Amino acid sequence: MTFVVAIDGPAGSGKGTLAIGISKKFNFSYFDTGSLYRGLALQALDVHGENFTKNDVITLARNFSINSIDQESLRSSKIGKYSSIIASIPEVRSILIKIQRGFKEENLYQKGIVVDGRDIGTVIFPNANIKFFVSASIEERAKRRLIDFSERNEIISYNEVIKQLQKRDQRDKERSVAPLVAAEDAHLVDTTCINKEEALKIVSSLIIVELDDYMKINK
Ligand code: CDP
Repeated sequence: MTFVVAIDGPAGSGKGTLAIGISKKFNFSYFDTGSLYRGLALQALDVHGENFTKNDVITLARNFSINSIDQESLRSSKIGKYSSIIASIPEVRSILIKIQRGFKEENLYQKGIVVDGRDIGTVIFPNANIKFFVSASIEERAKRRLIDFSERNEIISYNEVIKQLQKRDQRDKERSVAPLVAAEDAHLVDTTCINKEEALKIVSSLIIVELDDYMKINK
């Protein structure tokens, strides 16, 4: 049995940082599911250029292996945009479900896993032991993204980042399959006015309670 922490939220909300913090603190294995969509977008662009079709992506998804992803090139704004475009293709989502659920099977003998994305608490692991939906104001999220991009030497303006985030949020929330939405039983965490240590402290106290109960039951 593996304790599952599901974390969802929009771009720049701090969910990735929080997930990494949880994985280190509790010694849980971490899966950033956005890297699948980003990796597939990178492949589609490499193989077909910007005019790839839905069927091109579905074919690539069928043969997709997470090990083939070059992590370094995934975080650009261009890949962010195309990842959300391909993430709206229902067939792509259903192919990638297997890989994501497989992560739990691969970690069955670990203490726990922490998985972040857009549909983890709603679709991938609806029975997760604990769920968080992380959000922050668009201005704060844009500021954080701007720092990420400048660390990668990508030059982009604040206004352009705001525009990109708005477009991506809209695409992610309005798609027909697995839209970005908080699971009914998710704890809502607004990180607009708190730093990463404070956010980790808040979620950790909730995880500790849940994990304690879980350990008693599964002794
Ligand atoms: O790190 P950031 O929040 O900017 O994005 P990400 O988690 O790397 O995800 C990139 C894109 O992949 C998102 O905008 C979504 O369109 C898509 N995605 C998804 O649809 N479902 C997931 N579980 C994870 C990502």
